Amino acid sequence: MATLQDLKNELKKLNAEYAKIKDLPADQRADFGKQLNIKKQQLNAEIAAAEAAAEQEDVAPLDISAPCDINGQLPTFLTADNGSKHPLMTELDRVIAIYQSMGFDIAESVQLDDEFHMFDSLNFAKGHPARDGYDTFRTEEGFIPPAHTSTMQNRVLKANAHKLAEGKAIAVAVPGRVYRNEDVDATHEHTFYQCEGVYVSEDCTLGNMLGILREFFEKYYGQKLNIKTQPGYFPFTEPSLEFLIEKPASLGGKGDGWLEMLGCGMIHPNVLKAAGIDPTNYQGFAWGGGIDRLVMLRYGLTDVRNFESAKLDFLKEFAC
Ligand code: DAH
Repeated sequence: MATLQDLKNELKKLNAEYAKIKDLPADQRADFGKQLNIKKQQLNAEIAAAEAAAEQEDVAPLDISAPCDINGQLPTFLTADNGSKHPLMTELDRVIAIYQSMGFDIAESVQLDDEFHMFDSLNFAKGHPARDGYDTFRTEEGFIPPAHTSTMQNRVLKANAHKLAEGKAIAVAVPGRVYRNEDVDATHEHTFYQCEGVYVSEDCTLGNMLGILREFFEKYYGQKLNIKTQPGYFPFTEPSLEFLIEKPASLGGKGDGWLEMLGCGMIHPNVLKAAGIDPTNYQGFAWGGGIDRLVMLRYGLTDVRNFESAKLDFLKEFAC
């Protein structure tokens, strides 16, 4: 008996036949088209029946308490032609490629972390209200699904400190998934993506940072941009800034709309010290901003919730 996939393949072939109609002599077209329509109706009915039968099939429930047999049968995955890459992952690849082209190494952020990396190592004083500003989830055991990719700064600095001793700079971009316990609406999600940038050398300046950020955004949006900064506050930078771009006309801007794209600043000496780097010899800058927001501006999207929604209609618009 033909499987559901066989029937779908047959339908695909049949649909391709319609293109032949225009090449037929005029007096044969109507009849040819009619035959195709009849076959198509039959096939669609068979597909519907096969789909209904598949839904009735008993699927053995997964025993999640069973011990894992790593030599057992491998899971069967859907074939790639049944799906496509999520738009955020496509865009994240673009972001990573830009940072790599600028000489940055890439390190992925963790998805479960602890108080030290999320707060202590980033110069958040114990009990300081700034900790509350991050709306962090916590597990019963006290672990934290990180609320920002800055949670990686201490690890990235420690792992690359040897480069400073070799006279090189630390330059790392850290993409990752982050979580915040906040009310969800068109511009706020509990789960989203950020990308962090960390740069440390003997003599880097805020001016260098602004140059890097300008280049990143101009490469990502493929055009010249107006940029500006305004004062911000983060315990892990001093001074702290917010980095804004003016919404370009090509992306629906009218010349007066400034968009805050990320937080940034010179890395606080205490953050360098916590990673064993001497702040009297070295200085650095860092930034972190949302990927979802970056992508929304690029494609004129208005509802961030679509990314996590699994709405196929939305996702298919980006399938390639
Ligand atoms: N982690 C901050 C946030 O999620 C953003 C940020 C600000 C990152 C300043 C940085 C920084 O690296 O230097 O709101």
